[in-house]
Amino acid sequence: MPSPNLRTFQNTIDAYKTKLAEQSAQIQDPKALDELRHQFLSRKRGYVTILLEELKTFAPEEKPTAGQLVNALKNEIQERLEALEARLKAPAKPKREIDLTLPGEKRYRGVPHPIRLFQREIEDIFLSMGFSVEDGPEIETDYYNFEALNFPPHHPARDDWDTLYITDKLLLRTHTSPVQIRVMEKQKPPIRIVLPGKVFRRDVPDPTHLPMFFQLEGLVVDEGITFAHLKGTLEFFLKRLFGDKIKIRFRPSFFPFTEPSAEVDIECLACGAKDPECRICGGTGWKEILGSGMVDPQVFKNVNIDPEKYSGWAFGLGIDRTAMFAYGISDMRYFFENDLRFIRQFDLK
Ligand code: PHE
Repeated sequence: MPSPNLRTFQNTIDAYKTKLAEQSAQIQDPKALDELRHQFLSRKRGYVTILLEELKTFAPEEKPTAGQLVNALKNEIQERLEALEARLKAPAKPKREIDLTLPGEKRYRGVPHPIRLFQREIEDIFLSMGFSVEDGPEIETDYYNFEALNFPPHHPARDDWDTLYITDKLLLRTHTSPVQIRVMEKQKPPIRIVLPGKVFRRDVPDPTHLPMFFQLEGLVVDEGITFAHLKGTLEFFLKRLFGDKIKIRFRPSFFPFTEPSAEVDIECLACGAKDPECRICGGTGWKEILGSGMVDPQVFKNVNIDPEKYSGWAFGLGIDRTAMFAYGISDMRYFFENDLRFIRQFDLK
């Protein structure tokens, strides 16, 4: 058992250690360092000198222990003082001069992809007409992608929509139309929605085709809906997008899930309908941007909506293709080459 004297001695030494640590953290210049050295090591009144004096008060058997404690403290003080000295001697970091006349470093903020920007512009127009925006899966079942939309198995219309199959019954959706079914299964009329998303087809890339592209589906179902509503809404939409002067034409077409059906073309904005060799419109002066039609009664039956009571219309718009015209781009493939010089031009807002 150490004597009370030795214990007090140990506590005093611990207190000095703490003091040393606290004070050395504050040392910024050689003068303060000298003061610290003096305070701890001065021959006359330094803490170590005082402790050495006190050694005399210990009984002979405790003296060596007490002596070791003082020595350990002394070593610690010396090490610390040396380290502080070295730190103060190290060359000061050069002050960074700031030249206010230099141009600033411009950092590039990310922007939404042009297709995304354009999709939002389209959504805004439909939102302003009271539509809401919905979503659906990119991997679809055969039932939603085809069967519920009135494409029976082996129907030749399926050939136009060839895609990647994951299993016999699962595929990458070929259009956004399956989301019509998903919405009508859950929601009863009145329905007024748009559904944007990625679609996939076995298409060879060229200036106006890509194997993956974006569509925006529209669907309106209510009592008394007619083809006039379809025509009026799409005309209004396209004029908001391209300006009042845009030329639009409705062309009879076929889709298994609409009857009657129409494709909608706009004048070719790439050549202004003037170039007989135009790579975009093939010299016709027109370019198809969407398919549309009155919802086929069979589709309503598939989702338990009474076709005697309700009618509706739908459309599917190619977002990339329409964006190509809106932005005056000659090739849709630019959108997905990820060349930042191209992408960065669209930070419009
Ligand atoms: N889903 C059709 C397509 O991808 C477009 C379409 C949608 C046609 C809705 C009519 C109604 O070509």
